[in-house]
Amino acid sequence: MQKLVVKGKKSLSGTVKISGSKNATLPILAASILSDKKIELSNLPIVKDVITMSELLKHIGSNIKLNLKKKKIFINNNGRKLNTVAPYSLLKTMRAGVIILGPLLSKFGKAKVSLPGGCAIGPRPVDIHLFGLKKMGATIKIKDGYILAEAKNGLVGTKITLPSISVGATENIIIAASYAKGNTHIKNCACEPEIKNLTDFLKKMGVKISWVNKREIKVVGNQKLKSVKHKIMFDRIEAGTFIIAGAVAGKKLRITDIESKILSKEMTILRKMGINLKISKNEVTVLYSKEIKPISIITEPYPGFPTDLQAQIMVLMIKAKGLSKIRENIFENRFMHVPELNRMGAKIKVKGNLSLINGPQELNGAEVMATDLRASVSLVLAGLIAKNRTSINRVYHLDRGYEFIEKKLKKCGANISRLNY
Ligand code: EPZ
Repeated sequence: MQKLVVKGKKSLSGTVKISGSKNATLPILAASILSDKKIELSNLPIVKDVITMSELLKHIGSNIKLNLKKKKIFINNNGRKLNTVAPYSLLKTMRAGVIILGPLLSKFGKAKVSLPGGCAIGPRPVDIHLFGLKKMGATIKIKDGYILAEAKNGLVGTKITLPSISVGATENIIIAASYAKGNTHIKNCACEPEIKNLTDFLKKMGVKISWVNKREIKVVGNQKLKSVKHKIMFDRIEAGTFIIAGAVAGKKLRITDIESKILSKEMTILRKMGINLKISKNEVTVLYSKEIKPISIITEPYPGFPTDLQAQIMVLMIKAKGLSKIRENIFENRFMHVPELNRMGAKIKVKGNLSLINGPQELNGAEVMATDLRASVSLVLAGLIAKNRTSINRVYHLDRGYEFIEKKLKKCGANISRLNY
């Protein structure tokens, strides 16, 4: 096991280059199952979940080559018949693996994919995924923890209104519709930028896709796809994390290789908290801000404030003068960082899906436990401003979604190191 040790009270200054998006890469890798032609992906984030997804594709027979140095992936299935069974052993660490269900079913007419099961932040059901695939003609059974899906004559395009907004279900259904017979019209879609990056990728492969409005998309299935080269978009959650790190511990922190307009909600919230931001098209500089004001936020689907930045902004709220509130509207159990932050001296109360954060509070370094990807990074941010040392255990959670985080932080002046224990 490994832990990160952070010696606090060091201010951050310098430049952080944001990596490619994990949450854009995963659905695009799943969509590669549809194609028999060459695929080249660049600006890949070298994080555990992307390695896991590549291993999952390799396991089912995909001809996939990872070039870690160049941050590129090369795929060329060239008409191979892939194995349509995705085992629990490969899905248990990464729920997003369920997103290969749609492409396997659409391309090969059947799929046996392990139910992903829950994770620390909630039960993570897949009923909306299955709802959409059934609408397209799939017969689906659940047996022994597996989804058994069949569509002997392939999936057929149709009209689908999703019962509630789901990123993964939207992605699964769009990918399935891309190879289905005929047109699919999907309403009540999630519209995260990562889904836009997925549809850009599918369009380059020759799928006719049009976003008719914010949450409505039309897909014309195409079974003759083209070779494609595609650059993965920047990771907006990594970018948001470092912008908040700059607000929490920064003197002058420049974050580059981003598209600022995608982060407008986050920057509006930070400015309301009194954070001094210099924003241009592809970068933002966070300057030291003397007084931090409290704020109340709710997490919402894009373009609302993202649940994936909730744990991080909570650390900034600890420094704010007064009472801040966070209502977590997306996941059932996403306040597991609170007990760890309170052990460091924060004064945070949780009532159901509402957290009340009293500030400003001085934090003291402690041994803390990472529980999920974003909770773990909030403990790193807390360690940056705490007195003495903070050890963040089970750092494998962090490695799932942040590329070389201690290197990036060290380069900006943080005293942070990775130890085996
Ligand atoms: C994606 O998860 C992201 N993961 C999550 O990021 C992110 O927090 C989440 O979207 C919300 O933005 C990836 O993109 C790989 P959902 P996903 O389906 O697709 C319920 C990270 O830290 N729901 O939009 O699983 C669900 O329980 C990760 O990078 C159903 O009820 O999220 C949740 O309450 C964590 N039935 C809500 O919808 C379903 O069939 C939103 O989930 C599907 C979802």
